[in-house]
Amino acid sequence: MEPKVIIHGGAGSSLKGKGGLAAVRQSLHKIVTQVYQALGQGMSAAEAAVLGCQLLEDEPRFNAGTGSVLQSDGQIRMSASLMNGETQQFSGVINVAKVKNPIHLAQFLQGESDRVLSDYGAAELVRELQLPIHNPLTDLRLNEWMAERKGNFDKTMATVVAEPVEAEAGRGTIGVVVLDQQGRIASGTSTGGKGFERIGRVSDSAMPAGNYATTQAGVSCTGIGEDILNECLAAKIVIRVTDGLSLAEAMTRSMTEAKAHNCDLGAIALDAQGNIAWGRTSEILLAAYHNGNAIGDTLEWTEPELMGSA
Ligand code: GLY
Repeated sequence: MEPKVIIHGGAGSSLKGKGGLAAVRQSLHKIVTQVYQALGQGMSAAEAAVLGCQLLEDEPRFNAGTGSVLQSDGQIRMSASLMNGETQQFSGVINVAKVKNPIHLAQFLQGESDRVLSDYGAAELVRELQLPIHNPLTDLRLNEWMAERKGNFDKTMATVVAEPVEAEAGRGTIGVVVLDQQGRIASGTSTGGKGFERIGRVSDSAMPAGNYATTQAGVSCTGIGEDILNECLAAKIVIRVTDGLSLAEAMTRSMTEAKAHNCDLGAIALDAQGNIAWGRTSEILLAAYHNGNAIGDTLEWTEPELMGSA
């Protein structure tokens, strides 16, 4: 069947500056094209989700991998997960440091009986796999942290896209949901966290609340992790589809509930029929998709509706 892909680079408040928007659009379109082409060459859904996450982690504009935000103590700790909808296996790492692609650790853990590792265990895995030490810190993220430190940590979250601190942009995370030629679905999500958070805080990105898939649907979330956990958003949307709701209905219903609970979040999704959907309660969602015919994105989607589809 025709492969499909949707990716995101975060959700949040408005992106300031058309220069920023154009650059984000270029990054997202380039990555969505690469993942779509790989799927067209027969890559499996799980591999394609990893490829997409890796490319987004390597793009310093986004808050995952290189370009991750700093926590309250000035350290970077990243979380990532992979959900294979075909095998219905979830794997992930929580608060891992000094590694280039946390999604590769999640991929490795798919084959293990212990599939979610946190800080110390994740560090041991990095050592075991002999992965090179990588410093994901960028000047922009360091400057952001320094500026925030002067402001006495009064901001709830770091910017979604690495920009000068004056250009407040929102919330960050990256995610990928794909449908491959065999009709298999996989989702991957990766993040540097909220930024400025307490040491030991656990993100939604390496939990089924933030990243989930079955044979019927897959979802990756972004936004305030605590809000996503409260809604159990990714699993809720996927299970609604698995239980018979259309993807659009599942997204609309879940976003309406999240809005009523004053959540600040977004989600991307697709189903086994190849329908693509996205939703958000935040002002913007940085998502792009390839529906088999064309690439589209949500960067200038400002309608009051809580969801869209392709
Ligand atoms: N959604 C990313 C985080 O809250 O850590």
